[in-house]
Amino acid sequence: MPDGVVGVERLVVEHAERLSGEVAVQGSKNSALPILTATLLCDGICTIENCPDLSDVDVTLEILKSLGAKVLKEKNSVIVDSTEVCGFKISKEMMKKIRSSILFLGALSARMGRAELCVPGGCKLGPRPIDWHLAALSQMGLKIENQDKMLFCELEDRFKGAEITLPLPSVGATENIILAAVLAKGTTIIRNAAREPEICDLCDFLIKCGARIEGAGQSEVKIVGVERLSGAEHRVIPDRIVAVTFLAAAAAVGGDVTVQSVAPAHMQSMLEVFKKIGCDVNVAAESVQILAKDKKLAPIREIVTKPYPGFPTDAQALFMVLASISDGSCMFVENIFKNRYKHAEELVKLGADIKVMDKIAVVKGVDELYGEETLEAKDLRGAAALVIAAMAADGRTTITGVEHLDRGYEDFEKNLRRLGANIKRI
Ligand code: EPZ
Repeated sequence: MPDGVVGVERLVVEHAERLSGEVAVQGSKNSALPILTATLLCDGICTIENCPDLSDVDVTLEILKSLGAKVLKEKNSVIVDSTEVCGFKISKEMMKKIRSSILFLGALSARMGRAELCVPGGCKLGPRPIDWHLAALSQMGLKIENQDKMLFCELEDRFKGAEITLPLPSVGATENIILAAVLAKGTTIIRNAAREPEICDLCDFLIKCGARIEGAGQSEVKIVGVERLSGAEHRVIPDRIVAVTFLAAAAAVGGDVTVQSVAPAHMQSMLEVFKKIGCDVNVAAESVQILAKDKKLAPIREIVTKPYPGFPTDAQALFMVLASISDGSCMFVENIFKNRYKHAEELVKLGADIKVMDKIAVVKGVDELYGEETLEAKDLRGAAALVIAAMAADGRTTITGVEHLDRGYEDFEKNLRRLGANIKRI
């Protein structure tokens, strides 16, 4: 590579015969991001443990620092002191880097009475609208001026409690409303709220800080506004999608893998599918072991993504790899995102038989996937799926778009090598 030209990082993945061993799973990215954003509301010091060491976390901490918060980060623990926060503008380039930066709309407006930020970036999962976020916060009194993708927001005094019904149980919209409601004047009711474990974790943290929240994890959440929030210590829940990624790798390649420091209750819908395809699954309090004999995977038949506790959209790509090498066909219905099959065309390069029509994808299992290809990862969970497919495929496979992995997986290659994979980053 000529000097000065930044090389495109890529992964080189060899066929893997079998994976075995144990992996301690990181804290949940989609829990850490809203919780770190919520520290902006706290009039005191917050210590967040089990925080995953990811680029999305680093961007969130950069935003907090740019607003005047003091931030101290060791690998997996973060201390935030928001007492001195005085800024209300977030730079375009930082907002563009991650989807969850939209949560600063609620938190920053609640803290400063005003906010200037732009429409966020994030994965290319199709249009990432924020219309429900904007409608809800406007209903709570936020004046929002939308000038060519910049949002100029102003509160009269504080957010006002309101009764809000979401068209779909949107995770981000639910979180933004909670962040606006905890210090609001009056009571807020969210109907058709998202029920993901990450919502419960955010509420657990806020309640430790003095918030008054009932019904977290249910479809109806009630938040009674309080005058101030203190700091708190909190340990982030395990990342259920990262845990299932390692289990899916073992199912695809064959072997005996145990994921530790996990919350099996958060993974129920996915563990059912592993059993259905013929793997043995042993669940303990904080660990799950999968035994994948090297016989053909039984057909899955159908995967329909739903809001929690249904089958999560974030695991769809992982299970499409398993369907591609199973002994039958499987119909996928992706109900959450409009364009979340970008990994399909890459799997077809390895010999998979996949037909995509709008939100439906029909996968017919094939005997073998063949590597010796270069694949391009286009989003976070798609990237993980391609790595799993490359380990199952014959030969050597190269994958570009590695930066997507670093957004959500801490030490991904190192953990896979520990399980016996032959994978390196060049
Ligand atoms: C969160 O995204 C997660 N991200 C996603 O994980 C996850 O896939 C998704 O929830 C669903 O579970 C974070 O938590 C940071 P939504 P979010 O609002 O909040 C539409 C990952 O890789 N919608 O529940 O953006 C939206 O377009 C990411 O970890 C509107 O139309 O998801 C989507 O089709 C990928 N208007 C659907 O709702 C809105 O105002 C669900 O989106 C908001 C959302």
